[in-house]
Amino acid sequence: MSKYDKHKYIAKTLKGLEQVVKQELIELGIPKCRVTNRAIEFHATKEQMYACNYNFRTAISILKPMFAFTAKDENELYDKVKELEWEKIFGLDKTFAISHSVNSTVFTHSQYISLKTKDAIVDRFRDKFNDRPNVDAKDPDIKLNLYIRGEKCQILLDTSGDALFKRGYRLETNSAPLNEVMAAGLLALSGWDKNSALIDPMCGSGTIAIEAGMMLCNIPAGHYRTTFGFFNWEDFDQDLWKKVRNESNAKIDLEKGIKIQASDLAMRSVRMAQSNLRNTPELNRIIRFKVEDALEIQASGSSGTIIINPPYGERIYKDEVAILYQRFGEHIKKEFEGYKLGVLSSNTEALNLIPLEKIEEFDMMNGSIDCKYQLFKA
Ligand SMILES: C[S@@+](CC[C@H](N)C(=O)[O-])C[C@H]1O[C@@H](n2cnc3c(N)ncnc32)[C@H](O)[C@@H]1O
Repeated sequence: MSKYDKHKYIAKTLKGLEQVVKQELIELGIPKCRVTNRAIEFHATKEQMYACNYNFRTAISILKPMFAFTAKDENELYDKVKELEWEKIFGLDKTFAISHSVNSTVFTHSQYISLKTKDAIVDRFRDKFNDRPNVDAKDPDIKLNLYIRGEKCQILLDTSGDALFKRGYRLETNSAPLNEVMAAGLLALSGWDKNSALIDPMCGSGTIAIEAGMMLCNIPAGHYRTTFGFFNWEDFDQDLWKKVRNESNAKIDLEKGIKIQASDLAMRSVRMAQSNLRNTPELNRIIRFKVEDALEIQASGSSGTIIINPPYGERIYKDEVAILYQRFGEHIKKEFEGYKLGVLSSNTEALNLIPLEKIEEFDMMNGSIDCKYQLFKA
């Protein structure tokens, strides 16, 4: 395959962020795609795939469908997997792991199918080289995805390796940290123009603020990562990767006039956020974390965007949380006229107490929790 050939890829994302990923694809020069549930299919060159991995803020991973075939039973599956030229994909020195998604009346023991697939790959190497690559379930160099529906089998390669929300800057988290991909998605959905203030007054470990800082300064989402899955492939093109990285890094612009303000009532959270900020040194002058009650924050300009991921308090502290949402809404109404407020929460009763005009609502999932992301006009 030449570097100009296009291949199909599938970007996986979180519920509610499909259109945001589509927009990111357009910005990376890939206007055509197909949006499905939590996934976006597109065609790209190797260079574009590298660029997507380095730049995507709202995709979880990018998969490359590698092989497709039909099999009527385990033995046929084993034979067909063994026929595939695995040695062209990765070398003996690499570790690998297989995850699976099996929905089939033919293959009912998904764990066993996965094992058979692994055996076929190992046996192919052993027959060819009298040696075998090792399996590493926890931290593999090569991640394979086995997808079976009925008799139709597909093997996909994870081009990203570690999930793309693992940006490399967040080493400290509180008990309810927000996924980085979700934080970037909330910012994108809010319509923040990157020319006016961005405030997170319940910042916890600082994810929304740091993602906002990276967006503001065009710092690629993968800037602080040290590795991607495709680094371990036989066809990894180091020069092409350097070109992609240099071209993306050339767009970084740290001379921004605006500041991102983030605060939290808990000193512990602010310390954590500051410690995470030390891992993104470029943003030191752009983001300011401080201890402050969200009910006392003051506006410094006439417009901007406030985004919060407040406590949900669905089981305990229900009443306290409801009062917090209401009072916070009242405070924003009084002090932040002209601003936009975005709130992510699973607590719809508390959301309904915010006394501001709702302008948009998105259905999201924060981990396993069904949430609403509501945008208000203050
Ligand atoms: C769900 S956590 C936010 C997590 C954060 N988005 C992150 O990425 O780590 C909610 C935060 O709201 C803060 N909080 C609750 N009440 C507050 C108040 N009145 N003023 C400021 N912060 C508050 C908590 O201390 C907690 O850190």
